[in-house]
Formats: sequence, C-alpha cells, structure tokens
Amino acid sequence: MKSADRIGKLGTETAFAVSAEARAWASQGNKVYPFHLGDINIRTPDNIIAAAHKAMLDGKTGYVANGGIIELKEALAADINATHGTHYSAAHVAVQPGGKPVIGKFILALMNPGDEVLYPNPGFPIYESQIEFNGGKCVPYGFLPGKENFGLDMAALEKAVTPKTRLLIVNDLQNPTGAESSETELKAIAAFAVKHNLFVLCDEAYFDLRFSGKSRTLLAYPGMVERTIILYTFSKKYAMTGWRLGAAIGPQDIIDVIVKLNLNDESCTAHFIQLAGVEALNGDQSGSQKIIGILKERRDVATDILNSIPGVKCFRPNATFYLYPDVTGLMAAKGFADDYDGFRKDVLHKTGVSFCTRLHFGRALPGESSRYVRLAYSGIDLDMIKEGLGKFTDYAKK
Ligand SMILES: Cc1ncc(COP(=O)(O)O)c(C=O)c1O
Repeated sequence: MKSADRIGKLGTETAFAVSAEARAWASQGNKVYPFHLGDINIRTPDNIIAAAHKAMLDGKTGYVANGGIIELKEALAADINATHGTHYSAAHVAVQPGGKPVIGKFILALMNPGDEVLYPNPGFPIYESQIEFNGGKCVPYGFLPGKENFGLDMAALEKAVTPKTRLLIVNDLQNPTGAESSETELKAIAAFAVKHNLFVLCDEAYFDLRFSGKSRTLLAYPGMVERTIILYTFSKKYAMTGWRLGAAIGPQDIIDVIVKLNLNDESCTAHFIQLAGVEALNGDQSGSQKIIGILKERRDVATDILNSIPGVKCFRPNATFYLYPDVTGLMAAKGFADDYDGFRKDVLHKTGVSFCTRLHFGRALPGESSRYVRLAYSGIDLDMIKEGLGKFTDYAKK
C-alpha cells in the first residue's frame, strides 16, 4: 500500500534506531553499554506511583476535560509562576500526553505552509520532522564551543532571519549539548524574537534538571510572555518518561487552539496520570532530588573518564543528562575522520559502548569541522559507566 505523500516528509527520532541496533547487537550475546537513549533507568518516585495507584482504585479512569483537570493545571501554573516569575493561571495551561506533543501542536497552531522556522541544530530531531511535515521551511541555527560549555551562535541566528520567519524554537538546557544560556544570551534571544516579531517555543524539557544553582528562563525577559509557549514535561526531572505527561503553557488564545487539537487527537490525558502529576508537583520532592544526586555522580565519573582519553574533549554541563564530547582527534586517529556511522559502529562492535553521533541531531551545518558524539548517562548505572568507558579508553589507546 502506498502511503500519503506527506508521510515522506515525516522524520524520526533517530536515537530509537540506534537503540534497535544496540538491542540487536546485545541479542547476539554481546555486552552493550547503553549511552544512546535519553531514558532513565531509575524508577519514578514512590509517592507518585502511589498517587496513580490510588487514583485508579478511586475510579479516576474515565475521560476528563480536553485541556486537563483543574487541579493539575493550577499546580502547573503555580509551579511555573514560582520558578519563572510569571502570572499564569489554569487558563494558560493545556495538559498533554508528554512534552513531545507540544512541538507538533505549537507548529500546527502557529505556522502556515511556507513559513520559516528557526530551530537548534544539533537539536531534538522532532523539531525538523514536524516543521517539514507541516509544510514549513526548516532554518537551523548552531552552537559554538565556549570556555565552559556551548553557546548559541547569535550571529548565525541574525543572518538566518528573513521576512518569512515566523517561529523560533529555543531549547535551553539543551539536548544534545547540555548547553545553558547565560543571562546575556537569553536577553539577546528575547530581543531578537521581539525585533522580528516571532512566536517562540521555549522547550524546557530539562528545566531544573540541574546539579547546582537555579535554572534561568527566557520568559523573564520583556515581550516574551505574550509570544511564548513553554514545553513542560514530567519525563525527566521526575523520571516519568513512560507515563507520558507534559503541558503547553502560554497565551490563552494559543492554548485554546492547542486544547482544540487535544480534542481532535487524544481527547485527553489519562485522569490517574494527571493526578500523579499533581503529586509530583505538590508532594514530597525528595525522590526527584535523589534522582538528581545519582545523575550528578554519573556525570562526574563519565566526564572525568572521557577527558582522560586522547583525542576527546568534554565539557561538564551543569544541567540535563547529556555529554557532548568533541571526538575529532579520536575519529581521525581511528581512520573515521568524516565517517560518523563507521566510527559509531566500530566502537559498538569493539567495545559494546553505544552512543549517538552529531548526525542524529540534524544535518551538519556548512563549515562545521569538529566532530561530536552524544552520551546520555541517564540509562546506565555507575559501574557500567566505568566499565564501558574503560573499554572505550582501551579502544582509543590501541
Ligand atoms: C529537548 C527535548 N524536548 C522534548 C522532549 C520530549 O520529552 P517527553 O515527550 O518525554 O516529555 C525531549 C525528550 O527527550 C527532549 O530531549
């Protein structure tokens, strides 16, 4: 059967393809060290699980309002107001089955075919997929290595804007680089969005998933609240990836459109899952703090080992659970200077270490000469990190 023409434009989350390859390699009896997928191998905190269980036993198993139950919308508005200094109410919140649906719904609500959309590259691959699928033009912007982490390439962003640019996607606390914008950078992005009258998707999937200090937000800058939709998700901070719970938060007229899309797509997010979300936000936070403590230890061990490997340089990001080392020297030394896939497969087959490469986060940008891979340390225990990266070190030194 021939699928509709538009399906040809639909992309994929290529990390899942790397997962399938790693699984196939493991099924042949090989040990695999999974650094490829941004999933978490730590269980959701008990109080959240108990809340979902209780809600199910209480019969909270039917349809609910398309935009979410009032308790969760109020809890989300209060949480965002406390961390972002905003004044949202429940009317500014549309609950979603995960953070990911916010991307497609934001684009459907605000982009006309032919409109141009600025989005990060390297970045979460679903932006590109949804822009193209819905008939928009993808206009990527990149990052530059700084002293302590990557920074957004503001000059490239300015050059990329045209009269047709309508949307800007920002992912601060970034996947895959772990980059975090400085105040100066956020101020510049906000001024840029206002100057060019852009609607903004502020993907904060990793907000507060950090090891010290406080997360900053683009929403704090003039002109942003009225033009921005926040992508909120419970997936990462509360280790709830499989529950599928998130939200779009922003101006009421756009939220109303998103709620209409909810009605047409999934009707609503499961009632008992929403009640678990209320517990996640309002209940005991020690489970989430424990998760962050575990991740911090993993980050430090993995970063130290990576930086001891010849031909590898790695920042130590203060947020997210990704490392994005520069492996230019190592790839060249192994005879894979420009061959990302060859390098990735060679490492998998010789060491069992499985990771994504830069190309899983978008096409390389013109003039890009350094080579990067992404290691997620959220789905692999400390002893396996040590063992796997030990093998990777031996591989590099051979
Ligand atoms: C940057 C970014 N945005 C959004 C998501 C979507 O997460 P979820 O749909 O699990 O909430 C992810 C997941 O990895 C992500 O990395």
